[in-house]
Amino acid sequence: MSDFRQQLHKIADRVADYWAEIAQYPVLPNVQPGDIYRQLPSEMPQTGEPLAQLLADFDHIILPGMTHWQHPAFHAYFPANSSEVSVFAELLTAAMGAQCMVWQTSPAATELEQRVMEWLRDALGLPAHWEGVIQDTASAATLCAILSAREQASQGHINQYGFDGSQQYAVYASAETHSSIDKAVKIAGIGSQNLRKLAVDEQFAMSPTALEVAVVRDIRHNIKPLCVVATLGTTGSTAIDPLREIGEICQRYGLWLHVDAAFAGVAALLPETRAMLDGIEYADSFVTNPHKWLFTNFDCSAYYVKDRQALVQTFEILPEYLKTAADQQVNNYRDWGVALGRRFRALKLWFVLRTFGLQGLQTRLRQHLQLAQQFAAALRCDGQYEIAAPIPFNLVCFRHCPPHIQDSDALNAHNAALIGAYQPKWQSIFEPHQAKWQICFTRCIWSNPCRRAASKRFNSLATRLARNKTWAIK
Ligand SMILES: Cc1ncc(COP(=O)(O)O)c(C=O)c1O
Repeated sequence: MSDFRQQLHKIADRVADYWAEIAQYPVLPNVQPGDIYRQLPSEMPQTGEPLAQLLADFDHIILPGMTHWQHPAFHAYFPANSSEVSVFAELLTAAMGAQCMVWQTSPAATELEQRVMEWLRDALGLPAHWEGVIQDTASAATLCAILSAREQASQGHINQYGFDGSQQYAVYASAETHSSIDKAVKIAGIGSQNLRKLAVDEQFAMSPTALEVAVVRDIRHNIKPLCVVATLGTTGSTAIDPLREIGEICQRYGLWLHVDAAFAGVAALLPETRAMLDGIEYADSFVTNPHKWLFTNFDCSAYYVKDRQALVQTFEILPEYLKTAADQQVNNYRDWGVALGRRFRALKLWFVLRTFGLQGLQTRLRQHLQLAQQFAAALRCDGQYEIAAPIPFNLVCFRHCPPHIQDSDALNAHNAALIGAYQPKWQSIFEPHQAKWQICFTRCIWSNPCRRAASKRFNSLATRLARNKTWAIK
């Protein structure tokens, strides 16, 4: 066997071992800031080092400093779940060193991307004429949406001449919107002051009334309403903004509607949760991340647009060296986003969609939804927990409300402290959330890629919580 082949086998074994043993790792590393950095030499080596030495350092320095996102006790943030087949595809991609900027640089990558994005579009129930492109992140997709909206509104003027100060624009999102919207608004030159964070209702979803009031006020002040970002599955509590009512307002006042379904959008694969897409025909663009909850390792963000021309005209640059004979017949995805160089992300999505099949994906998603409901039921049963937000998907927001703490500030302090105190002890990672409505609660997401491990984990966590009469800071 060649050296390369032997080493590859060794690496394959290590990957398989890691996955088999992952539950034995501490989900959160026991490290302090600077611990890893200090172990790394201040200069790169002058001569090459053997792989064995690198792997030894990987074991001793890197692995102990990692947070294990595929760990069954990982309940924080939103997931970045992976799967065996996604890892296989990623390895093949790396082996080819593929560059997918235009059709000619990797024809199969371009055409596969087109096809898998159609599969996913249809499986999600998005409008059949929409077209999709894989971006690295939802942040990048949202930036594309806001830039496209800007160019459409200014008829390409800002791309060509820059802002001349004659027109101010405004973007609208709920108070619960993700920080990537703030970032996109800044980068697109709209100005943070012109991002309107709108009131939410008691379900933490955008209030259409607040939206219309803000739009009308801006028009009255000669500020041009540009774009609404509606979220399906907000980061804080997975709230669902009412698309249809928002869409009708967008249509009435001529606004671009971008739908940020970064995390929860994939739940539209299930007929029982697809109602969140009601009104999607009003949208101009939509993003969901298979790299969050669809077993496709980071990065893979599915971005769909109603009108490809609005996207391509925003980004198109055609220097001589990038022109090819096929340009008129193919999708050149370099013009569908910010980057020229593009990874072959479609391969892993293809592997996932084919290996799981729609039914396999649905089964997994349903299992996660069910685990969340069972977990919430266990909390309710205990009597000392409050479920802090509706549970439309697999995120449970809860807080501990022991009878001896009545004051709301004290309750917040108690819940903030609990997470810090119990994370290391339980070897679980949760995330505290201080919602805009001033309640500190714990977010607990159920999305582990490994079904058996997730169920086992669920039992131990639920039992601990249910049994917990000691979960109080002394
Ligand atoms: C609702 C929402 N939108 C956007 C993002 C940003 O996603 P990405 O990391 O792919 O940019 C997140 C991340 O969690 C999110 O929750």
